[in-house]
Amino acid sequence: MPVHIVDHPLVHDALATLRDASTAPELFRRMAVRISLLLTAEATRDVPSTPVRVDTPLGPAPGRRVQGGVVVVPVLRAGLGMLDAVLELIPSARVGHIGLQRDEMTAVASKYYSKLPGDLTDSFVLMIDPMLATGGSAVAALDLLRRAGARDVRMICIVSAPEGIALVERHHPDTLIYTPAVDQGLNGHKFIVPGLGDFGDRLYGTF
Ligand code: PRP
Ligand code: URA
Repeated sequence: MPVHIVDHPLVHDALATLRDASTAPELFRRMAVRISLLLTAEATRDVPSTPVRVDTPLGPAPGRRVQGGVVVVPVLRAGLGMLDAVLELIPSARVGHIGLQRDEMTAVASKYYSKLPGDLTDSFVLMIDPMLATGGSAVAALDLLRRAGARDVRMICIVSAPEGIALVERHHPDTLIYTPAVDQGLNGHKFIVPGLGDFGDRLYGTF
């Protein structure tokens, strides 16, 4: 399985608030940032870094600096709720955007926007989309990234369904998925159960 389960009490604490139906958009947005900071830290354990020397007030100390070459790609719209967290940790990251919308009846995703940085071949790419349900959106976004040359791609999801993980594994077996939760499955409307509802609607109050 291309899945890395992020099992940390602080992650699960934030996730419980995100799942809670009584959480209003303001708190939902804060928790989306908090959990994304924690998930990003885990997904970037092997981000390329270089040894440096820094001068403390008491003398030289060894350190490490993250190299350039990180690209973060939020899948619109819900992925935008995770972007500030990634940029807080990796301010030098370049940002690509992929706009995908699931049809309300069929749950099939279609693309309405794409703008990616040039030459992703040697980039460390973090694709961020909080919900991995059928996997249709993830596979469409990963297809775009691969066509743009990306080779090293990780995906960060806040809630995943087994169906979505299986589809990503089938189409993009070399993409690692970082997630704290693999839920039971999908309901008749292709929503994750128990999930947390429609992430984008809860993030932006568009109920
Ligand atoms: C949500 C979510 C994912 C997608 C997951 O986006 O952010 O992109 O659904 O579902 P899938 O795995 O079945 O494709 P949605 O299409 O609702 O758009 P939004 O982010 O604009 O709300
Ligand atoms: N998109 C969401 O926001 N939630 C789901 O449960 C499935 C797709």
